[in-house]
This record gives sequence, structure tokens and C-alpha cells, in this order.
Amino acid sequence: MRHDDYLRPIPKTELHCHFVSTMTGARLIQLADRYGVALPTTDPDALFAYDDLADFLVAFRAATDVLRTSDDLAKVAYDGVRADVIGSGLRYREYYVNPQYFAPKGIGYRSLLDPIIDGLSAARDDLGVDFRIVVAINRQEPSAAALELVQTVLANPLDPVVGIGQDDLTPELTEDPGRFADAYALARRHGLHTTAHAGERPVDSPESVRVAMDELHVDRIDHGYRIVDDPQLTAQARDSGIHFATTPWSTTICSGWTIDPQHRIRRMIDAGLSVSFSSDDATFFRTSVGREFREALPLLGLGIEDARRIALAGIDGAFCDDDTKASLRARFTAEIMALDATIAAG
Ligand code: HPA
Ligand code: ZN
Repeated sequence: MRHDDYLRPIPKTELHCHFVSTMTGARLIQLADRYGVALPTTDPDALFAYDDLADFLVAFRAATDVLRTSDDLAKVAYDGVRADVIGSGLRYREYYVNPQYFAPKGIGYRSLLDPIIDGLSAARDDLGVDFRIVVAINRQEPSAAALELVQTVLANPLDPVVGIGQDDLTPELTEDPGRFADAYALARRHGLHTTAHAGERPVDSPESVRVAMDELHVDRIDHGYRIVDDPQLTAQARDSGIHFATTPWSTTICSGWTIDPQHRIRRMIDAGLSVSFSSDDATFFRTSVGREFREALPLLGLGIEDARRIALAGIDGAFCDDDTKASLRARFTAEIMALDATIAAG
């Protein structure tokens, strides 16, 4: 059996997926043309090439500018699901939506969230991919703005919006998750789930992961790779069962690492941490959750048994309710058994 025959169809969650990055390259170019947004180039080889995370984030912020209308948002939401169901075995996804990118352009919270939810709900009904939304605090903005954002989330309850996170970098190009402690405390008091991008790059630190865990009390960590440089913190994370939503391919671009059996993600798995795989920014990094399983997983020196564990760990780390988790587990188990039977039948 080829690894590909198993890793492509195995049912998958994707917990770490920035909404804007589910827009295809073709649509990005089409909308940029429609709205007169200047792209540095329309050659995908150059358009999707970056020096590092900070360089990528410049392009990512520009891409948010091509999403102007409800129709743009709903279409991107719907189409972003289709390719991954067919090509990647996607069954459940959590989207990071960062309203602070859109507010300065006159797109308020509900004008942003309502069409995204419409598009994703239609995709769920047509394609069977359930979803939740995590509102991302923009670290470019001050802590008071983050607190205001959480107040807005709480004042506008929407069923699929189940948590908050933080992305981008501070104006000093750091992570500094503790800067947004007040916003996290408010979110937690009102029962929202919490996550944070932390310990992503060589210049970031295990301390960033520690602050997210011990001071923000997050339910999961996005990236978190620097944790392996602190054995005590790694043991604490293993014992607490906190989940890490990792993104192997993005680390080749944003962190400058090679995907091999010495990679930090492999070391996190070997240390007994709960780890799932996601694309992070599929279009921009020219990946998908399917590619993370098909290509990154074998390069990490992992096999089919690991793929099953990683697929199921994605359900453990999800922010949906217990009933949804139970039905996802039943669906994944049945699909994995059917896949095993097909392979055994040769
Ligand atoms: N890190 C920080 N901000 C981001 C990322 C990331 O990997 N992707 C999109 N925004
Ligand atoms: Zn991310």
C-alpha cells in the first residue's frame, strides 16, 4: 500500500486555519483586479514566496483587503471547504477570523461574521463539514482594543463563535501573549474557549508558551514548537493534556526549519503531547491539511498509526461541544475502520 492511499482519505479535522487563507490564489487575483488592489505580482511563484513570518504577514494583511462584500466573504467561505473535502478528507474545521483587519475598512463585526457563517453553514449542509469560529485578537493593536473586541464578541453571541485567539505579531514583531491578559480573562469568565499563537519561531521563546499556558490559561496552543527547549514545561503540558495545533509546512517558511525526524513537531509527539496537523495559511504556503498528512507526516518519520492518532487528537483539541465531539469520534472511527478494511482486502 502506498502511504498516499491512506493519508489522503483518512478523516481529518483542521483546527488552525486562518479564514482569509482559504481563499484560492485565483480568487485573490480576481478580486484584487476587481477592486484595484495592487498585488506585487500575479506570478504565483513570486506572489506566495516569503522571507519569514513578518514578510508573510505583510502579504496576508494585503490579501484581507480584497474581501469587501458579503458575497465575497460567503463565496470564499463556501469554496474553501469544497477542495478540502474532495482532496483532503476534511470533516471539521475551526476558522480564525481577525475582525480588526476589517474594521478600519468599514466592515463591522456582524457584517464580517454573518456572511462567513452563511457560507460555512451552506458548505456544512452540502458537504458535511462542521465548523466553529475563533475570533483572533490582532497583536498589531493595543491591549485595550483586544478587550473591546472580546466585549463585542460577548455582545453579539453567534452559535458558531466559540472562542478567542491571538495572531499576527506585535508592532515590535514579538508574540508577547501576556499583553492581552485582560481580554483573555474576560473571555474565560464568559465561557469562551481560548488559544494563542505562541513559540512559533526560533526568535520566540518557550516563555511565550508558558505565559499562554500559566497566565492566560489557554485551552490549547497554536504552534508551540519552542516548548521542546524547556523539558519541565513539556512535562507540564503532557500531564495537563493541553492540545497543540501545529502546522508543519508553515514552519519551513515562517520558522526556517526543515521537515525531518528531528523537527520540533516530531519531538513534541515523541514527548507525549497532544498534537494535530493543520495548514495554517493554505493558499499562501501552498499547502492543505491533506498535504500536511500526505507529505509532511512521512517526512517527520511518522507512519499510519501516528496518522490515526493525529487525526483523532484533532477532535480532542476542538472547541465544539461534547455531543459534536462524540459524533465526530464515531464518524472518524467508522471511516478509519472502513479504510483499514479496504487496505486489508488489498
Ligand atoms: N502566526 C501569526 N499570525 C498569523 C499566522 C501565523 O502563523 N498566520 C496568519 N496570521
Ligand atoms: Zn496561524
